[in-house]
Amino acid sequence: MLYKNTKRIKEDISVLGIGCWNFGGDWETSDERSADRIIRTAVDLGINLFDVAPVYGWFQAEKILGQTLKDANLRDKVIVASKCGLTWGDDHVTANDLSKENLFKEIDGSLLRLQTDYIDIWQLHWPDHNTPIEETCEALSEIKKSGKIKYIGLSNFAQKDMVKFDQLVGVDVQQSLYNMFERNATSYHNIPLEYKTEQEVLPNVKKYGQAFLPYSPLFQGLLTGRFSKNKNLSKSDIRNENPKLSGDKLEIYLDGYEKLEEFSKEIGHPTNEIVINWLRQIPEVTSIIGGVSSVKQLKKNIDALRWDLNENEIERINEIIEPFRLMP
Ligand SMILES: NC(=O)c1ccc[n+]([C@@H]2O[C@H](COP(=O)([O-])OP(=O)(O)OC[C@H]3O[C@@H](n4cnc5c(N)ncnc54)[C@H](OP(=O)(O)O)[C@@H]3O)[C@@H](O)[C@H]2O)c1
Repeated sequence: MLYKNTKRIKEDISVLGIGCWNFGGDWETSDERSADRIIRTAVDLGINLFDVAPVYGWFQAEKILGQTLKDANLRDKVIVASKCGLTWGDDHVTANDLSKENLFKEIDGSLLRLQTDYIDIWQLHWPDHNTPIEETCEALSEIKKSGKIKYIGLSNFAQKDMVKFDQLVGVDVQQSLYNMFERNATSYHNIPLEYKTEQEVLPNVKKYGQAFLPYSPLFQGLLTGRFSKNKNLSKSDIRNENPKLSGDKLEIYLDGYEKLEEFSKEIGHPTNEIVINWLRQIPEVTSIIGGVSSVKQLKKNIDALRWDLNENEIERINEIIEPFRLMP
C-alpha cells in the first residue's frame, strides 16, 4: 500500500480508501456478506480509510462498517470518515440540516451505529443555507472538544464558505466530486454544485494543507467499463438517478471511455488502474475513496499501486480527457 501525509492530519492515509455507499443496499451490486469480506481484506492489504455516511442505505452502511470493525477488532487500525447534515422521513426525501440541535443528535446516532466512541473525520455532507455557519461551527467545536470527533471535513461546499468555516473551526478535509470526466462538474445527480473541483477546490486544498478525498473517482463504474450502450442497470440501482449515465449524455462519456480504453490497450494496463494512477499522481489527492462490490474488484484496484504512469503517459491521458475539463 502507498500512503500520503497532509499538514492537517496526523495519521498517514492510504492512497486507496473504500467508499462504503454501495454497502447499504442502494446499488444492485450491494451485498452485506461481501461488504464484510471487502472491509477485512482491505485492512489486510493496508487500506486504512473508510468513507461512509448515515444516508448510505438509510443507516445500513454505517451499521455494516461498525459491525465488521468490531467483530474483526479493527477499529483502532482504521480512519473512519463519516458525515452529517442530511435528514429524511419515511418517504426517504432528504433535507439539509446543519443546525446545532441536529448535529448533536446525529453524532450520537453515528457513534452508536459505528459501535465506537469517536469518528476520525466528520464531514458536513452538503451545505445548509438556512443555518448560520456560526451556529454549525459552535456545534462542531463543542463536539470536537468532547472527543467524539478528531478532524472536521466539508463535502460539496463553495470555497468562500470553506474559508469562513476554516476561520471559525478549522477545516482539515475536503471531499468533492472528482474523476477524469467530472473535473469541474457543475451538477451531481441533478443537484447543482457550488464549487469547481479542479479550478477552486484543489488550489485551496494545497493552500490550507487539507486532505482531499475525491468522490465517485470511478464515475460510478463508467471508468471501469461497467456501462455500455446496451447495458442497463436494474430498477433498484440508485445510479439510475444519475442523468449523466443515460441517453445522449451517457453516449458522450462512453465515447470518451472508448478512447481511454484504446490507450489502455496500447500501454498494456487496464482502465481501472490507469484511472486510479492518474488520480493518485495528482499531489492534492490524498485518498481515492472508490466503491467496490467484490474482493476481486478491490484487488484489481490495488494492482494499480504496483506501477506509475510516466510523464509522457500522463500527457497523453490529459489530451484524451481535455474535452471533459469544463464539462458541466
Ligand atoms: N460526499 C458526497 O456527496 C458523495 C457522493 C457520492 C459518493 N461519495 C463517496 O464516494 C464513494 C465512491 O463513489 P461512488 O460510490 O459514486 O462510486 P465509484 O467509486 O466512482 O464507483 C464504484 C463502482 O465502480 C465499479 N468498480 C470499482 N472497481 C472496479 C473494478 N476493479 N472493476 C470493475 N468495476 C469496478 C463497481 O461497480 P459495480 O458495483 O457495478 O460492480 C463499483 O461499485 C462512495 O462510496 C461514497 O463514500 C460521496
